[in-house]
Amino acid sequence: MSNIIDGKAFALGLRGRVASGVAGLAARGIVPGLAVVLVGEDPASEVYVRNKGIQTREAGMASWEHKLPAETGQAELLALVEKLNADPAVHGILVQLPLPAHMDAEAVINAIDPAKDVDGFHILNVGLLGTGQKSMVPCTPLGCLLMLRDRLGDLSGLNAVVVGRSNIVGKPMAQLLLGESCTVTIAHSRTKNLAEVCRSADILVAAVGRPRMIPGDWVKPGATVIDVGINRIEEDGRTRLVGDVDFDSAARVAGAITPVPGGVGPMTIACLLANTLTACCRANGLPDPELVG
Ligand code: GUN
Repeated sequence: MSNIIDGKAFALGLRGRVASGVAGLAARGIVPGLAVVLVGEDPASEVYVRNKGIQTREAGMASWEHKLPAETGQAELLALVEKLNADPAVHGILVQLPLPAHMDAEAVINAIDPAKDVDGFHILNVGLLGTGQKSMVPCTPLGCLLMLRDRLGDLSGLNAVVVGRSNIVGKPMAQLLLGESCTVTIAHSRTKNLAEVCRSADILVAAVGRPRMIPGDWVKPGATVIDVGINRIEEDGRTRLVGDVDFDSAARVAGAITPVPGGVGPMTIACLLANTLTACCRANGLPDPELVG
C-alpha cells in the first residue's frame, strides 16, 4: 500500500455512501436539505459555497444558497437563521465563516438550532462532543478521524499530537482522538520544544495555517501524518497550494501521509453531506446512517 492517503478517493467513497443513504430515504418520501448562508463577497468563500451546492445536489439532497450583501445587519441575518430553524425541509444550516467584522459570529452560530448545526460549531454541540455524547461533529476533524480509522483501525493507546488549537479544527480533533482513547497533546505556537513533541507522535495532525512549518525530521518514522493546512504560496513564479507539513521530506519517513491538495480538503465537504444526512435521519426519528466503508 502506498503511504499517501488518497483523500479524493476516500471522499468519493463517502459521498457514494451518503447518496445511497439519501436514495433510501427517498422511498419514505424524505429529502435531506442543506441551507448555506453566505454574507459578503469573499472569493474563496464563494468557491466553497458553490462547490457545496454542486455536491449537495449530486448526492440527491435539496440545496439552498442564501447570499446576503456584506452590509447586511446582524438582526437581518438572525431573522434568516430563525426562518431556516423553523423550516422542516431544512435539516442542515451552515453559515459560511468568516462573517463580516461588524457581525458577532458566535451569536449567529449559537442562534442555529443545534440539531441543524451541521458544522458542529454551536456551543451545545461543542459541549456534547467534549463530554463524549452524541453530537454534530465538525466536518474537517471528522474527515481526519475517518481517514485515521481506515488506515490504522483501533487508535487506542496511540500518542496523538495536534498542532493548532482552533475551535474549528484543533480542539474538536483533540476531543475526537481522546474519544478514541489516544494519549492526546495539543501543541501550538507557544509550545516549547515543538520538534520533540511532534517526534513523539504516532499520529500527527497539523492545523496551524503556516506553509511547510513541519519538516520531515519532526516526524517519527512510521507515524501517520494528517495535514489540514491549505496555504497559497508563490513559488517559482506560480501560485501553489501547500500544507503545514513539508510533504517531500515528511513523506520519506511517515508510515502514511495526506497530500495537499487531495488529502483532508475533499473530506470536509463529504463530511458536511454526511452530517446533513445524519441530521435528517435524527429529525425523522431514524437511526444514524452507517457511513463507514
Ligand atoms: N469557512 C471555511 N471553512 C468553513 C467551514 O467548515 N464551515 C463554515 N461555516 N465556514 C467555513
